[in-house]
Amino acid sequence: MATNKTFTMLKPDALENGHMGKILDMIVEAGFIIKAMKYTRLSEAQAKKFYEVHAERPFYGELVEYMTSGPIVAAILEKENAVADFRALIGSTDPAEAADGTIRKSYAESKGRNAVHGSDSDENAAIEGAFHFTASEIF
Ligand code: CMP
Repeated sequence: MATNKTFTMLKPDALENGHMGKILDMIVEAGFIIKAMKYTRLSEAQAKKFYEVHAERPFYGELVEYMTSGPIVAAILEKENAVADFRALIGSTDPAEAADGTIRKSYAESKGRNAVHGSDSDENAAIEGAFHFTASEIF
């Protein structure tokens, strides 16, 4: 059953390129409520753990290096049908395949440096949110 929360990260390329405000605006304009938010930088251990599902993929090392290369914004978002609606808002993993008007089409550099993360299931949204936030940081 669909829940109403998802988890996102604005990735280092998005912040390096000065897109934080515009992306947050798109998220809020699309009707998502920010339940928790943090401007932070992942350690290598945190990035390895967060992406451990991709540990066997050839791009894992590159992904960990990229995700630790600068600050990120992590957030828990609330909206009806949050996971699916947020994935529609961000668009395909590869910005070349993302639909017009999506965050990745507008702001991602490449399939690897793709500006924003969105949880792919309700279960992962809960796991990823708990990875970054304690109960007292969620409003
Ligand atoms: P995301 O879907 O948020 O989580 C997994 C990440 O791995 C993905 O975003 C990209 O940043 C990265 N990724 C996925 N596929 C590739 C690829 N083929 N080459 C490099 N990085 C990738």
